[in-house]
Amino acid sequence: MTKDAILELLWQNADSYVSGAELAKRLGVSRTAVWKAIEQLRDDGYAIDSVTNKGHRLSSGSDVLSESGVRKHLKTGGLNLQVYPSISSTNTVLKGMAEEGAGEGLCLIAGEQTAGRGRRGRSFYSPPNSGIYMSILLRPAMQAVDATSITACAAVAVAEAIESLAPVEAGIKWVNDIYVDGRKVCGILTEASLDCESGQVNYLIVGIGINTRVPDAYFPEELRNIAGSAFGDKPIPELRCRLAAGVLDRLMHYYEKLADKAWFEEYRRRSLVLGKPVNILSPGREPEKAEALDLDGDFALIVRTEAGELRRLNSGEVSIRQREDRA
Ligand code: BTN
Repeated sequence: MTKDAILELLWQNADSYVSGAELAKRLGVSRTAVWKAIEQLRDDGYAIDSVTNKGHRLSSGSDVLSESGVRKHLKTGGLNLQVYPSISSTNTVLKGMAEEGAGEGLCLIAGEQTAGRGRRGRSFYSPPNSGIYMSILLRPAMQAVDATSITACAAVAVAEAIESLAPVEAGIKWVNDIYVDGRKVCGILTEASLDCESGQVNYLIVGIGINTRVPDAYFPEELRNIAGSAFGDKPIPELRCRLAAGVLDRLMHYYEKLADKAWFEEYRRRSLVLGKPVNILSPGREPEKAEALDLDGDFALIVRTEAGELRRLNSGEVSIRQREDRA
């Protein structure tokens, strides 16, 4: 398609002008066709500057999130994508659709959330133009207790997808926060509907929020020391579309091979807490010092407290102890 080919050429020359004649010649189309395609790209949200006698220039800051853009990079078949510029919460909206009977593989992706939700009833800061917020509906035949493994797969999928797009290292802080350069760049909220009698899962919604860039208004006060962006400000063509596709491809790959646990070693390798001194954080209690020893097959964290007691943490939170805090 002329539009995609032009976009490709503009990306290759991002931030410099390419003349209409040059684009027409390279693609073997008329200059009118080039103009039309440029107009369509503008309508899609690309920041293209056109100047007489110079040509067209795509700003390297352009990072349009679109269904066709995600689909272009997606290898997995059978996913039903819906992309929204803004939504209340992809998890909340998808939950409504799941209750109405939507099928496995429905995936909502948004460029902004106005009521993004995090774990433990917290909100999730989801400003425009600086992240992707996505939820995928799965209907696995599994017991509720096994659902944590899907969250862990998602964490590995996100870490790998980030690293495939930039020379950064992405680690996983138990259970499912992704960190780059010491800052949280992604949170995952998996919500389940269960059949109470059998303990079987009716459906799961895996919600993933990734900060790709530092938001224009920076992070709110309470997140300033914690949150960061996965990609700094280095221009990366079609970043959000490629990232969304990369996460979905990897997540679906691991999901299909859930039983062989290929991702489990990868999760351990990326763990930021194993072998580290940690604080166990429980609401209303003083942080308790411990050492993170291991993960069991259910993703429980095995810790040894300072009193020498071995404890298995199922949920709850841990923070990695800083040097000054270790004495
Ligand atoms: C956390 O770190 O507490 C989990 C954050 C999960 C955020 C994602 S963004 C997409 C999906 N929709 C939501 O409302 N929340 C999840």
